[in-house]
This record gives sequence, C-alpha cells and structure tokens, in this order.
Amino acid sequence: MRNRRQSAVSACARRSLLLTAPAHCLLTMSATHTNIILIGFMGSGKSSIGKHVAQMLRFQFVDTDALIVERNGMPIAQLFALHGEDHFRGLETNALESCRELTRSVLATGGGVVLREKNRPLLRELGFVVQLTASEDVIYERVSRNRKRPLLHTTNPRATVHEMFTARQPLYDAVAQFTVNTTQLDHRAAAEVIIEAARVEFGW
Ligand code: S3P
Repeated sequence: MRNRRQSAVSACARRSLLLTAPAHCLLTMSATHTNIILIGFMGSGKSSIGKHVAQMLRFQFVDTDALIVERNGMPIAQLFALHGEDHFRGLETNALESCRELTRSVLATGGGVVLREKNRPLLRELGFVVQLTASEDVIYERVSRNRKRPLLHTTNPRATVHEMFTARQPLYDAVAQFTVNTTQLDHRAAAEVIIEAARVEFGW
C-alpha cells in the first residue's frame, strides 16, 4: 500500500515535470518511465502474463532470455553447458543494457536477473518494476513441465527450487515496486492487476 501511495505521488511529480521540461528531456523521460519490467522466480509467469499485459496495453513485448537466445544462436541450456553461468550472467546484463531505449514496452526478465548487483538499479531505471510470485509448490509444478532451465537439472530439483527461492526472495523484494501473487490468478486476471498498478504509477 505504501508503495502504491508513494508511486502515485511520484507519478504526479513526473506529470508536472513533463509539462515544464524542454523537448530534449521529454524523450529521455518517456523512455525511462513507460515500461513495465517483470521480475520473479522461474515459473512465476513473467513471459506468459507479460504477453497479456503487452497485448492489452498495445505495448511491445520483450523477453531478455529470448534476446540472448536470438543474439547467441542457441538455447539457454546450451549456453550454460558450453560457457557456464557466469558467462550467461554477462550476456543477461548486456541484454538488459540494450533495453535502455525501450518505451511502451513490457520487459520479461530471467529469474536470476536480480543476482548481479549492477542489474538492480538498471531494472529500476528501465521502468516500473513488478514482481510476480507464486507459492513454491505451484512454482515447482510449473517448472517441472519442461527441462529448459539448466539450473534445475539437479538430482533433487524440488530442494533446488526451495534453496534458490529462499535465497532470491529478498532480492526480488528489494527491487520490486509492486508485487502480484499469481498462485490463484489466471494470466488475464494477473495482467489486469499489473495494468491497474501501472495506471497508478504512470498517472494514466
Ligand atoms: C534463470 C531463469 C531462466 C533463465 C535461465 C536462468 C534463473 O529464465 O534466464 O535459465 O537463474 O532463474 P526464466 O525465469 O524465464 O525461467
């Protein structure tokens, strides 16, 4: 609630700035303030819900994992296998940095994007940061549906989910300006909640 109220105030402040800013500033401001950035654990629904949000707002949908796959010509699991996680994290930061010019976009990020310290202020700079969460059991059920996620190729993926979930939660909480629990929501309902929060944030 506190976040929403603070966001509403900052949206008003931005609106009044927009009215008085010189033209060259308007470009920069709109580029940094009209994106919705989705963060959260694997399986929290960032890509599927993000596509709904983008479609409903007529925004562009961008996925940092998809950018990495496209730019490197191979799936994430293969990138991890060939070059390791550290290399992947570098590619992830590059992908995020390449999104600085985006506007009117919904950006879905990989679940580990909050791990690198330098990514955290960058996420905030890119737009309104929304965290998607779900219960650990639901997350596990969702991520078990395919084997695309190399970090879960362990002998006990359920325990791995628990460890990673516990370690990362404080990082998501620190970066997020708004949180939506998707455990009981279908994609459209979750998208509507996000859009409502964005309306408050951006003063639409
Ligand atoms: C990762 C999450 C994945 C992908 C990579 C690493 C993580 O993205 O970036 O497998 O560290 O949590 P999703 O969150 O879209 O599954």
